Amino acid sequence: MGYAEVYKSWQDDPEAFWMAQADAISWDTPPSKALSDDKAPLYEWFKDAQVNACYNAVDRHVEQGRGDQTAIIYDSPITGTKSKTTFAELQTQTAALAGVLRDKGIVAGDRVIIYMPMVTESLVAMLACARIGAVHSVVFGGFAAHELAVRIDDATPKAIIAASCGLEPNRVVAYKPLLDGAIDQSTHKPDFTIVLQREQSPCDLIEGRDFDWHEAQKGVAPADCVSVSGDHPAYILYTSGTTGAPKGVVRPTAGHLVALNWTMRAVYNVDQGDVFWAASDVGWVVGHSYICYGPLIAGITTVVFEGKPVGTPDAGTFWRVIAEHNVRSFFTAPTAFRAIKREDPTGIEIKKYDISCLRALYLAGERADPDTIEWAQKIMGVPVYDHWWQTETGYTIAGNPTGIEALPVKIGSPTVAMPGYDVQILDEAGHPVKAGELGAIAIKLPLPPGTLPTLWNAKDRFVKSYLTTFPGYYETGDAGMIDEDGYLYIMARTDDVINVAGHRLSTGAMEEVLAGHPDVAECAVIGVTDTLKGQLPMGFLCTNKGTTKTDDEIKAECVKLVRDQIGPVAAFKLVTVVDRLPKTRSGKILRATMVKIADSAAFKMPATIDDPAILDEIKAALQPMGYAKD
Ligand code: COA
Ligand code: AMP
Repeated sequence: MGYAEVYKSWQDDPEAFWMAQADAISWDTPPSKALSDDKAPLYEWFKDAQVNACYNAVDRHVEQGRGDQTAIIYDSPITGTKSKTTFAELQTQTAALAGVLRDKGIVAGDRVIIYMPMVTESLVAMLACARIGAVHSVVFGGFAAHELAVRIDDATPKAIIAASCGLEPNRVVAYKPLLDGAIDQSTHKPDFTIVLQREQSPCDLIEGRDFDWHEAQKGVAPADCVSVSGDHPAYILYTSGTTGAPKGVVRPTAGHLVALNWTMRAVYNVDQGDVFWAASDVGWVVGHSYICYGPLIAGITTVVFEGKPVGTPDAGTFWRVIAEHNVRSFFTAPTAFRAIKREDPTGIEIKKYDISCLRALYLAGERADPDTIEWAQKIMGVPVYDHWWQTETGYTIAGNPTGIEALPVKIGSPTVAMPGYDVQILDEAGHPVKAGELGAIAIKLPLPPGTLPTLWNAKDRFVKSYLTTFPGYYETGDAGMIDEDGYLYIMARTDDVINVAGHRLSTGAMEEVLAGHPDVAECAVIGVTDTLKGQLPMGFLCTNKGTTKTDDEIKAECVKLVRDQIGPVAAFKLVTVVDRLPKTRSGKILRATMVKIADSAAFKMPATIDDPAILDEIKAALQPMGYAKD
């Protein structure tokens, strides 16, 4: 069957489609039906099944005779180390760590925060939680203590599993002070922590609260897999929304197993025994779905890469990893390719490696600009497939289903809606628009298995954020269009979320931090276009009259404040002081117009603007920074 037939088979009978995919999962009790819609517009999938995610990702491969197959390849150009972990070894390691968690009182449903870098043990920690039904919440290492504290207070974990440090190319990031700082700041206190000591920066442990990863495992009996119900949360992953409070996306266990397993073949065209590499981080959704769970559930070898596309040690690192580990499908964010292209525009490095094992490159996480796609295609000699999805969905909404049928690529489009998703473009009143017309991108409910059923501790926020603007639909927060061939184009966010180097950030969260500076009377943060990172945050400050500090002092303090409160990942370095901000007559800051001015793009004067002269002041402030060119 080609794509059109598969999509139609899903449209004709969505439940039968997903029940058929569910056959590939090893259930303790198989689901009697696919969809529960009794609480519509809240939906759940495979609710009455009993299953364990770790069993499906690890144990069953051992039981089926694939214990000696490599499950995880760890490759760290930063430390110069590589290792391989078989499925049998992964089973031993997860069962041992799960035993520690169980003996220290963690039971199914308890939350465990994981604050770890790109090492094999991060996957072991996630799977160990899944093994005993604990709900993990991985926090990205580039976030500051305050962001970790916010997540501790929201998830109220009984335990935190952390490493002593992470490694950036130019520095060792000591995690323990961040962890201790976060626990000090948070109202909720975890019962204990488990710390993986790394030789690059071992840390002190607090007697009675912190336990060494290896020491704690001595004499502990391994834990068996605990069966959980299909709707049991597999994990919570916090992502940026409009306000400073992150949204805790809940991932339901059964749907996530069924859907991820299906995508490995349908979207990424890989099978049991192949090597698949997603160059991202365990702290992001790509890391959850395609470094950890997806490949492992499908019996595919995954690569844990601790490095960057450039500088570790050079722009040839990706090619080395692909060639050395026989990678068949490779997934990363466009920004990584822009970084390589900037360093090695003619592709000198790639000529040093034989990457003939690679079949395709998959890009997601941000807009894939045509230049980058064409360049990647040219130097790699393989097809480049853009695909579009979000933390909320956990896997592809629109993509090129290469394992079903490789559709013609239209550069600039992530291709077509995947089975499971009825994607529509709506006008402001919620009516579908004609092909080729711009509008809000919405998905007709119900969303497919594995997508978020709710937000952690925030059902009302879930309904308000996603289900209210367009009744009967899920609002994606993206705007775009669908052409006459059904190809989707993603143009922009409709909210205050920006995308910096493939990292989803909230300008609202940065504004909240800036507003906390005692000399800042008012502020706005926008996302301006950047040739490397896609977007960069830029802050505008109106300072209090009578301050004794210079503008430069306040700007430097604000940059530091965002780094200390949100973290280095915010990449907040551009900031300017202005007398006033452009607003509508009702006082709403005209951020979209400011973006256009900064990007030197044409714009229509907003009809509701209070004082058009302010726009010239904004332009004048931006020009010395190299923006708002005439
Ligand atoms: N722990 C601690 N700090 C981190 C971190 C982590 N896990 N990840 C990033 N940071 C820091 C960086 O060191 C940098 O700090 P600096 O301001 O002191 O230089 C800052 O956060 C910003 O990081 P980033 O935006 O990633 O910029 P970069 O200049 O370090 O690297 C790229 C640029 C393009 C090479 C890098 O972003 C990249 O490899 N992107 C790949 C895309 C990706 O993984 N996307 C994830 C979603 S698919
Ligand atoms: P995240 O939840 O971090 O994966 O970010 C999701 C958001 O990133 C989407 O809502 C889009 O705004 C953007 N995004 C992801 N993939 C793409 C893509 N292929 N093209 C354009 N934007 C994308």
